[in-house]
Amino acid sequence: MPKLWGGRFAGETDELVARYNASLPFDVRLVDEDIDGSIAWARALVGAGVLDASEAARLVEGLEAVRAEFDAGQFAAAPGDEDIHTAVERRLTELVGPLGGRLHTGRSRNDQVATDFRLWVMRACDALLGEVAALQRALLASAEAHLHLPMPGYTHLQQAQPVTWGHWALSHFWPLERDRGRLRQARAAASVLPLGSGALAGSGFPVDRAALAAALGFDRVAPNSIDAVADRDFAADFLYACAMTGIHLARLSEQLILFSSAEFGFVALPDAYSTGSSLMPQKKNPDTLELTRGKAGRLLGHLTGLLATLKGLPSAYDKDLQEDKEPVFDAADTLTLALPVMAGLIGALEVRPERMRAALAQAGGGLFATDVADYLVERGVPFREAHALVGRAVRRAEALGVGLDALPPAEWQAIHPLLGGDLSALFDVRAALGRRRAEGGTAPEALARQVARAKEQLAVS
Ligand code: ARG
Repeated sequence: MPKLWGGRFAGETDELVARYNASLPFDVRLVDEDIDGSIAWARALVGAGVLDASEAARLVEGLEAVRAEFDAGQFAAAPGDEDIHTAVERRLTELVGPLGGRLHTGRSRNDQVATDFRLWVMRACDALLGEVAALQRALLASAEAHLHLPMPGYTHLQQAQPVTWGHWALSHFWPLERDRGRLRQARAAASVLPLGSGALAGSGFPVDRAALAAALGFDRVAPNSIDAVADRDFAADFLYACAMTGIHLARLSEQLILFSSAEFGFVALPDAYSTGSSLMPQKKNPDTLELTRGKAGRLLGHLTGLLATLKGLPSAYDKDLQEDKEPVFDAADTLTLALPVMAGLIGALEVRPERMRAALAQAGGGLFATDVADYLVERGVPFREAHALVGRAVRRAEALGVGLDALPPAEWQAIHPLLGGDLSALFDVRAALGRRRAEGGTAPEALARQVARAKEQLAVS
């Protein structure tokens, strides 16, 4: 089979160069989008007066036959099949004869590949939106199951203030909600039709691009044919959305790795999501979580890699752009596996209230230092002063070798007369949680409101 572009060449392509040039091994994944695009194009050519209706119908039938061969795993690639676009056209022409040679009228692989790739990214966004939502549902279910279960909250990985398991679990719900926003934006960025832009200067045949856009499910038509064949912003947007999602999954993983260690023991990892050591019989390793944490690096690399490829390209299509697909495919594949794995793990996680209770008890009242300061503030002491006074109490307790909750009343009294009374109510975890009633806080009513908001978000999509 001669090459699509072979006319002006006398010599053969070097064999290694042909392999180097070829994208079929990976862009075969665009087959459905390529065939959808070609079917829409064949119909547009009727409107443009290039084909009559029966010719278009034969092309559509031929294209569906090629699709069926791919679906059945019966498609046989030929040596000259450089990419999915040439492969489909070559096979179509074998099936329908010289009519196949008319399909590419007024079209270029430049607007064709941009169209196919955008369609693929739009579909990938739709699928990933569903997977992110499934993980959000798992987090929400875990949050609701232990909404008010107290546990120590950490900043700088140091015990800070009490929170609840539900509050913590939902703290991983909202980043994913933002990730869904980014995926929707990437989808909208992709939903612009390049087809009808030709190689770069536009199509020489009067195709109705608005009708093409509608037929293929694009929101808009690209307004400039040069930009249309060059623009890969949508791919970068997609990779950014994926990288951020990966970073959020990594943060969740890192925290669960810590929480499942013997030192914390707040959760037990399900056997189905853990692995053992080939040497140490006692080990139960959080490999699943470590892999998820590690894959964030790979997703980040795909984004920076594509941006580096795009940097410095002149206008319109350049072959560098063929490098856009593998990072996008791999990012989608990575998350298509990571998201349901994480959702399954969250669903099967064993939460251990007794270990959280023990950690709270061991904290020796330090978690309530802010509450003591707030107590003074409520009685007229400026916050900065209150902060310093409680800081002195912490130092005093340390010197005496007791927890802040065991500092004798006389010591408190010596620090400030307002602290002379019974402070025990301040060292109560439920009281501390309940005091944070402002929206977004740990009080039962604030948590209920947060759960309701989370449910609203899941319901709209
Ligand atoms: N395989 C190419 C790609 O993925 C298709 C476009 C080729 N266009 C060209 N003028 N060589 O980018």
